[in-house]
Amino acid sequence: MTSTINDPLKARHRTMWGLGDYPLVADTVIADLGAVLVEASGVRPGDRVLDVAAGSGNAAIPAARLGASVVANDLTPSLLEEGRSRAGDLAVTWEEGDAEALPYADGSFDVVLSCLGVMFAPHHQAGADELVRVCRPGGTIGLLSWTPGGFIGQLFATMKPYVPPPPPGASPPPLWGSEEHVRQMLGDRVTDMRARTATVRVAAFATPEEFREFFKANYGPTVVAYRGIADKPDRVAALDADLAALARRFDVGGGAMEWEYLLLTATVRGRRLARDVSGSVGRSG
Ligand SMILES: C[S@@+](CC[C@H](N)C(=O)[O-])C[C@H]1O[C@@H](n2cnc3c(N)ncnc32)[C@H](O)[C@@H]1O
Repeated sequence: MTSTINDPLKARHRTMWGLGDYPLVADTVIADLGAVLVEASGVRPGDRVLDVAAGSGNAAIPAARLGASVVANDLTPSLLEEGRSRAGDLAVTWEEGDAEALPYADGSFDVVLSCLGVMFAPHHQAGADELVRVCRPGGTIGLLSWTPGGFIGQLFATMKPYVPPPPPGASPPPLWGSEEHVRQMLGDRVTDMRARTATVRVAAFATPEEFREFFKANYGPTVVAYRGIADKPDRVAALDADLAALARRFDVGGGAMEWEYLLLTATVRGRRLARDVSGSVGRSG
């Protein structure tokens, strides 16, 4: 099993996603989205399914309930532990790993899913290449990602002035919510790409302040943003005000919000056998 513990950036991300209570966040705001992705990806009984950046199993568990044989891979061991205990006897294997260097052979899976997951791996092309590599020719890639203009995209934009700049080579997570960006990254290695935006209704918070306090306590990236400015009360007050204003901006009535995501599926093309000049046969395409 690949361990990324020695990569300082991934170690930071691992720590971040272990802060707060991500499973509670998933239960509170996106509990239905894993099943939405599983259905859109056409998972069938007996399929070998990989859930990339699976967290506590939001997509892996519904896929296993359908009768698929699922591998749930994630950077954060505490989330995998939570998923394992939630899954009970379902056919899910929980494995630690990095979405940018998946510990699986080429073509290992019939369906490769990522629900709000691979978008958080910093090097987008590396993540995209791995999705394609581990999916068998003719298999399905299914992705559900927050859009740049939607609520969580705007949450990251709002927090940006309060956090250190990303390291060189890292791209903003919500770019995965742009169909054009994903199309460019997957290129002609996939066919039959289908993409649509939709929203999830979030009605768990009565007021913008209630949303803010919940995320401040439970959502790793927001916990980290506040930790970085903890000794600057004026910055804390400013971020408090900005996050409440964001939630107010998205209020569609009675405290409910609509959070936009991109749902995208594609079929991996068959790999061509190419004969190079030395006469040996290798894979391409
Ligand atoms: C927003 S959560 C989504 C979790 C889950 N898919 C869901 O729908 O609830 C993002 C997940 O990405 C994982 N993650 C972040 N960077 C990763 C990486 N480089 N490789 C694998 N997982 C990663 C985190 O540990 C976290 O579980």
